[in-house]
Amino acid sequence: MSKPLPNASDFLPGPVLLLGAPGVGKGTQAKHLVEEFGIPQISTGDLLREHRKNHTPLGMMADELMAKGQFVPDDLVNQMVASRLKQPDTEHGYILDGFPRTLNQAEWLDGQLVAYLLPVVAVSIVVPERVLLERITGRRISPAGRIYNIYTNPPKVEGICDVDGSKLEQRADDTVEVFHERMKAFNQKTAAVIEYYREHGNRFAEVNGDQDIDDVTRDIRSTLLKLRHHPEA
Ligand code: AP5
Ligand code: MG
Repeated sequence: MSKPLPNASDFLPGPVLLLGAPGVGKGTQAKHLVEEFGIPQISTGDLLREHRKNHTPLGMMADELMAKGQFVPDDLVNQMVASRLKQPDTEHGYILDGFPRTLNQAEWLDGQLVAYLLPVVAVSIVVPERVLLERITGRRISPAGRIYNIYTNPPKVEGICDVDGSKLEQRADDTVEVFHERMKAFNQKTAAVIEYYREHGNRFAEVNGDQDIDDVTRDIRSTLLKLRHHPEA
């Protein structure tokens, strides 16, 4: 039996990176960690979708690239993250979901983090590729960002959010074709980022994402305690 975990008030994880291929559960897990630790989730995918919704120049540009499963240029994403990291709610840490995705973004982030007392820790969520397609094509999202899956994590009433009754939507890039492009971009660019953090052995860990959502959350939590050398780890 694993030991009970300390209360959130005893432990702040500091800056955390959630890394992994499309559909491994970065967003799902980030939301659980936000609830538990009270530090914000910063999802570059969500921020870009927000820009798209607001028709900003960045949003218009990102729209085309995201629809093809390609990455938005590093400089633009880095700037967007820089302005988010200036907000006061990041003072005690944050969960970066989907960033960095290129070596250039990882090196840029290293430069930003010098002001933090705690170094960044990176958790790579690992799921076999054959499982990911079903996760992506089955995903449904509420306008408030709650994440469901028609196969693995369905809402109580089809098409309706359990929490606020809103209508669930499907992401435009959650098609079979775009999924393959997103996997290609992941393998070509983001796999190297995972190796970059793996080389910092004491600040990196892998978690098995191919288990129940709550079990993944439990493993990420205990991994964070270990990476931060918490006495109860
Ligand atoms: P982004 O929105 O980050 O997409 P992604 O990386 O492809 O990841 P996803 O959001 O698809 O998956 P996830 O890991 O969050 O999984 P989730 O928890 O939802 O980025 C989109 C695009 O924006 C990119 O393609 C790019 O164009 C651009 N972009 C973003 N960041 C960028 C950057 N840094 N640089 C450049 N461009 C950038 O779960 C998936 C499904 O699985 C859900 O249905 C969920 O219910 C289900 N599920 C989750 N966990 C489990 C489980 N344990 N068991 C069963 N089902 C599960
Ligand atoms: Mg996500």
